[in-house]
Amino acid sequence: MNILGISAFYHDSAACLIQDGRIVACAQEERFTRNKHDFSFPINAVNYCLKEGKIAVSDLDYVGFYEKPFLKFERILYSYLANFPLSYKAFLKALPFWLKEKIWIPHRIRKELGYEKDVLMIEHHLSHAASSFLVSPFREAAILTIDGVGEWAVATYGIGRENQIQLLKEQKFPHSLGLLYNAFTYYLGFQVNSDEYKVMGLAPYGRPVYTDLICRELVDLKEDGSFQLNMKYFPYDFSLSMMNQEFVDLFQTPPRLSSEPIQQRHMDLAASIQKVAEEIMLKMARHLCEEAGLPNLCLAGGVTLNCVANGRILRESGFKNFFIQPAAGDAGGAVGVAAYLYCTLLNNPRNFVWEHALWGPEFSDAEIEQFLKERNLPYQEASQAILIASAARLLTQGKVIGWFQGRTEFGPRALGNRSILADPRNSEMKDIVNKKIKFREEFRPFAPAILEERVSDYFEIDCPSPYMLLVAQVRPDKKDKIPAVTHVDGSARIQTVSQSENGLFYSVLKEFERLTGCPVLLNTSFNLKGEPIVCTPQDAYFTFIRSGLDYLIMGSYILDKKDIKEAEQFVEKKVLPEETKTITIR
Ligand SMILES: [Fe+2]
Repeated sequence: MNILGISAFYHDSAACLIQDGRIVACAQEERFTRNKHDFSFPINAVNYCLKEGKIAVSDLDYVGFYEKPFLKFERILYSYLANFPLSYKAFLKALPFWLKEKIWIPHRIRKELGYEKDVLMIEHHLSHAASSFLVSPFREAAILTIDGVGEWAVATYGIGRENQIQLLKEQKFPHSLGLLYNAFTYYLGFQVNSDEYKVMGLAPYGRPVYTDLICRELVDLKEDGSFQLNMKYFPYDFSLSMMNQEFVDLFQTPPRLSSEPIQQRHMDLAASIQKVAEEIMLKMARHLCEEAGLPNLCLAGGVTLNCVANGRILRESGFKNFFIQPAAGDAGGAVGVAAYLYCTLLNNPRNFVWEHALWGPEFSDAEIEQFLKERNLPYQEASQAILIASAARLLTQGKVIGWFQGRTEFGPRALGNRSILADPRNSEMKDIVNKKIKFREEFRPFAPAILEERVSDYFEIDCPSPYMLLVAQVRPDKKDKIPAVTHVDGSARIQTVSQSENGLFYSVLKEFERLTGCPVLLNTSFNLKGEPIVCTPQDAYFTFIRSGLDYLIMGSYILDKKDIKEAEQFVEKKVLPEETKTITIR
């Protein structure tokens, strides 16, 4: 049985193919179109999934969409009418788009795919819940979903048992933690629905001096984690603005422009909203733990990418075991709806457990070599053993490597297949990678990838964190051993790597440990600032030559920047060659 799940038309469009209950492929549209957070119909991702499953559209038994457009439209109509005439302008802008496009989504999907049967739809937060519980290792678990907004729900509590999910409670729009965090993201000069993790990264530089003000004026938080926002400060339910003049007056300065330098007060604001978000998430999780009386927790929804808050839930909520969907944002909705159709609606027993996030396109050595030959590029071919030894040796020499192997990751994190790797022992490496390679803000930390069996030796955590979704403290005696991946507050966003999940990356870590005694590497996503993670050999190569990367190791081939003549002009101009902008998989 072939089931295709689709999430689209808001942000992070994606597709997922499940065959006989097992995930075969998932991918985000942005990886193909090179348009970050692409929200368009994921035709490239769909075509890739079908190709991977060796099927055509006519072989699909069911197609599912991750939310219910009519319910969403109802929420928008209700919010705009309730706020009329203040909502007049936004209403006029939104209405034609909804009438022409968004409420006809099932029709649009059928047309885009050439699919003739009905497209089934489930609620947005049910998709999030299913994306976590139905692929988790648990037969029974509490479920918590938190995001900006779906139809009406912005957070839900539920219980999953075998192939069934019951959502028991929901927090409703406009009282949304995701949107509250978005408002501060905007106020701090970052991009909404994209840069929230920058606010999280900035927070440890500040003091949470505005927390009391936020809790007094903006958020009325109850013990069970439910809360009401003071909508006097947030016009997003009837306009296109996240916050208003009253909000500016409350914090006494205008929003930071993205070009303005970051000052202490910005760091303090980031620290304050981060602390509030952690308190809300923790209260939600503790309440759910008491109500559900279960040891297992499944998390999903964009807000659960807040790995600092996740770390606190892990330590302080009372739950014993966790599964967080790595594509916790809306891309994961494609997995959720497909799994829900198979397991719950069609009442099939669960026969799949999510054990890695490597569900995207892969390129064979033959395809990589063809690309290298077509461009007449100098390269060295190596056996796997030499590849591993070379990578580890180059890293010990302070070289920074673009590492391109196997299938691409699904979700926002590079986990060792489309990664930039560097030596975490070098205290200057963070600045080198931020400034010369990724051209990004200097305050942003890098994550450590560590051999799973050594994680407790370096970090105050005793469970795996394979998807870089948990933050914990670096052990005091190890902070000066891995300065490039230790954040200013002594924390780190950890990725544990096991032999079974990613044998090749594990071997590089193991070899690096053999050479240095250190089982940790700096692992950051293989992309430049503002671009999606690379997908193809072309993307990898053009990112390599436009950055300060020293080596590119792609499949069985090693490229040395010193040998690449055309690299210089691109590093100077930082331009994206036309040919890397789009790729279509048919
Ligand atoms: Fe969502």
